[in-house]
Amino acid sequence: MPTTSMKLVTAPATAAEEMDAVRRSGRSVGLVPTMGALHAGHVSLIRRAAADCDVVMVTIFVNPLQFGAAEDLEAYPRRLDADAAAASEAGASWVFAPTRADMYPDGFDTTVRVGALTHSMEGADRPGHFDGVATVVTKLFAVVGRCRAYFGEKDFQQLQVVRRLARDLSLPVDVIGCPTMREPNGLALSSRNAYLTPVERAGAPVLHRALQLGATAVRSGVTDPATVRAAVAAEVAVDPVVALDYVEIVDPATLDAVSAIDGPVRLLIAGRLGRTRLIDNVTACPTPPPVP
Ligand code: PAJ
Repeated sequence: MPTTSMKLVTAPATAAEEMDAVRRSGRSVGLVPTMGALHAGHVSLIRRAAADCDVVMVTIFVNPLQFGAAEDLEAYPRRLDADAAAASEAGASWVFAPTRADMYPDGFDTTVRVGALTHSMEGADRPGHFDGVATVVTKLFAVVGRCRAYFGEKDFQQLQVVRRLARDLSLPVDVIGCPTMREPNGLALSSRNAYLTPVERAGAPVLHRALQLGATAVRSGVTDPATVRAAVAAEVAVDPVVALDYVEIVDPATLDAVSAIDGPVRLLIAGRLGRTRLIDNVTACPTPPPVP
């Protein structure tokens, strides 16, 4: 799609009116929320939305509520023009890029908090993070209205949190999870990869390698999660540039740590490379024994 047909809107009320008009004309809306700094992972979500829906709106908003005090809010890359062009190229016809004041006017004092799904992993390491995500996503869903919304499995806990809030709050939004895009060496694409030094970048693929090793152990019949977690941690330890934050093996729906691996599980990892924190995850399933 040529970039000239892309429309940029900053006021939430205007975005809402335009999406209402789209639906009144009988067309469906696809929504792709982002914080900008678009890469091929974001582009894959936009392409999927464009394949499924008549009109795609990409949102670009670096949401201050989901950053901790010591995190990278100010450093987070902002490049609206390049992002709008990339979104258009991938098939979006609208970019909604509100200002901070548009989203959080003076006196803003409401928080959306999802329960147990937010207590572990990223929620434990980044207090308040999922309250910020849930609050901004609820606002985006309220502005855009009935739609399909596309989120990456790259942020698997976030995806489950968003699914839960849409369901619990009866929002008219179909939340659709999309696969993680990776570099050829396995490193999951992330806006934060740009912070890595050359040495850190060379070490970062160990996160995915370690997860794959864990998934292979699960497939080959290891049922004890502690054994699999230890194998993943040992692989990460091979590269001293990565400090492991956590490796967890959880039920994909509840995100509860499993006590035995007897069905599909999700392996999730977080690690620090210098000042940069990266996360990744894969699915794993024990191979059923051959039918006698
Ligand atoms: P951001 O990090 O910009 O990610 C926007 C979307 O792109 C998320 O759904 C994320 O899971 C997805 N994504 C990121 N890397 C990906 C990859 N390598 N492959 C596939 N999809 C990928 O996630 C956020 O923004 C924010 O928390 C947001 C939901 C926009 C709320 O502020």
